[in-house]
Amino acid sequence: MKIAGSVALVTGAGRGLGRVFAAELVSRGAAKVYGAARDPATVTDAGVTPVPLDITDAEAVARAAEQCADVGLLVNNAGVMKASTFIDAPSLDAARLEMETNYFGTLRMCRAFAPILAANGGGAMVNMLSVTSFFTNPFNASYGASKAAEWSLTNGIRTELHHYGTLVVGVHAGFIDTDMAAGLDVPKISPESVATAVFDAVEAGEVEVLADERTRSIKASLPRDHELIYPPIQELWDSAFKSPGGGRS
Ligand SMILES: NC(=O)c1ccc[n+]([C@@H]2O[C@H](COP(=O)([O-])OP(=O)(O)OC[C@H]3O[C@@H](n4cnc5c(N)ncnc54)[C@H](OP(=O)(O)O)[C@@H]3O)[C@@H](O)[C@H]2O)c1
Repeated sequence: MKIAGSVALVTGAGRGLGRVFAAELVSRGAAKVYGAARDPATVTDAGVTPVPLDITDAEAVARAAEQCADVGLLVNNAGVMKASTFIDAPSLDAARLEMETNYFGTLRMCRAFAPILAANGGGAMVNMLSVTSFFTNPFNASYGASKAAEWSLTNGIRTELHHYGTLVVGVHAGFIDTDMAAGLDVPKISPESVATAVFDAVEAGEVEVLADERTRSIKASLPRDHELIYPPIQELWDSAFKSPGGGRS
């Protein structure tokens, strides 16, 4: 699909990757860019129209769908990561919030906007997933589960929406330089590089973006995940567990 002249909506557009997605759409000549955010006052960039939207709120999603019935490109970017393990997390709260936002919130958006995209000629949906859709790291285990669920959702709706002519793009990335990865001393890619790769893929009709070398390597390793992916994670986790202050008290 062509970005120039299109009408797009980006969730979580007040900061981070969502803000960069919206700016890239403006610079590629989109006719209208809705920047959806829980606090629409955070959407201040030129050319981006603020829309109030919490994707976990069914009524807010319905209102946004009514307000933005001209959308042809939906970018499901909003997400949360609570850096929570499965076993030692104090409660299920983080896991529930991640699933409620990353999986159910995105599913709710897909269901609300699928008929709108179809009515507007098919268009495209972009779902911002993660390298952790492919494997589980204890550091952000329940986030990985929500992103795996969101990956499954992305593959499923691609099949369901094919006959409407809707392109469904799944985007997987490792660490990106935004608030979500702030404080982590690891290599990070820029949000601008992700936005460029994503909208190049949309324009080329590609169904998947693997945004960095680590993500490409992890996906290629999936047939041998217990040999190639999990041993180094296990080693890191065990050593953190043995270090002073690490692991259970
Ligand atoms: N940063 C990374 O390393 C990384 C790597 C791979 C994938 N991702 C994915 O990329 C996407 C963007 O993340 P980011 O890096 O930009 O993180 P971020 O800086 O933490 O921003 C998260 C965005 O999601 C919004 N959001 C959270 N819950 C929401 C809700 N219920 N309704 C509407 N908006 C909500 C936030 O809005 P508020 O301002 O209202 O909180 C914010 O705009 C996420 O889906 C994330 O999982 C990130």
